[in-house]
Amino acid sequence: MKKVIVFLLMCIPGLVVASGGGAKLEHVQIDAKDLESLKRGADLFYSYCSGCHSTKYVRYERIATDLNLAEAYVKENYMFNTENLGEVALSSMPADLSKGWFGTTPPDMSLEANLRGEDWVYSYLIGFYEDESRPFKYNNHVFKDVGMPNVLEGLKQELGEEKFKAAVTDVTNYMAYMADPVKVEREALGIKVIIFLFILLIPAYLLKKEYWKDIH
Ligand code: HEC
Repeated sequence: MKKVIVFLLMCIPGLVVASGGGAKLEHVQIDAKDLESLKRGADLFYSYCSGCHSTKYVRYERIATDLNLAEAYVKENYMFNTENLGEVALSSMPADLSKGWFGTTPPDMSLEANLRGEDWVYSYLIGFYEDESRPFKYNNHVFKDVGMPNVLEGLKQELGEEKFKAAVTDVTNYMAYMADPVKVEREALGIKVIIFLFILLIPAYLLKKEYWKDIH
């Protein structure tokens, strides 16, 4: 028993590290069904993020279909280095250059929300603070000594605190969608399957009664 308690206590630091290095994460309320929010998030993502970050598992065509956007709109606003809707979004920044500028290559964002969790992504995006000792004069509450510049600073100043948080919520929603594009469909299918099983239960029960009726 004592050993179990000691073991459990030893797990605590591991859990703290896994949950973001001790920094408290802000909870974000996102809605995979809110297409307006996803569109605003995609608008922001392809204006502020895709210059550095690729999204190489997401095809433009798919975005147009899932978010109910006209192909012309996607072409004009999200596609900067291809004309082909069947393409995925690659960053236009050469990896060797970005490594020199930021100390590391900006990672692909397709699966980021699954990798880190939505709350982490949200907390990271609102977590930049001024720090003169850093090359770009900013540090981050959930990602110490991050190489990414505070690219949303201008937007924050333009929108003010509350609207900025709403905008970051939309970006997080879009990133969660990219990481799990079939979430809404899967959940809807799950409900249908459960209803089907319930309906199936009725004939199964009647059949059972029929089979056993002479035995009792
Ligand atoms: C100027 C280039 C640049 C832009 C623009 C940019 N990033 Fe980054 N981003 C980086 C770099 C470089 C890193 C890697 C930082 C590190 O590892 O120290 C990074 C890291 C990240 C991470 C953490 C990755 C991890 O390690 O899990 C997230 C999340 C992220 N960026 C999201 C965004 C979002 C969302 C936007 C748009 C609002 C954006 N970035 C815009 C350069 C950029």
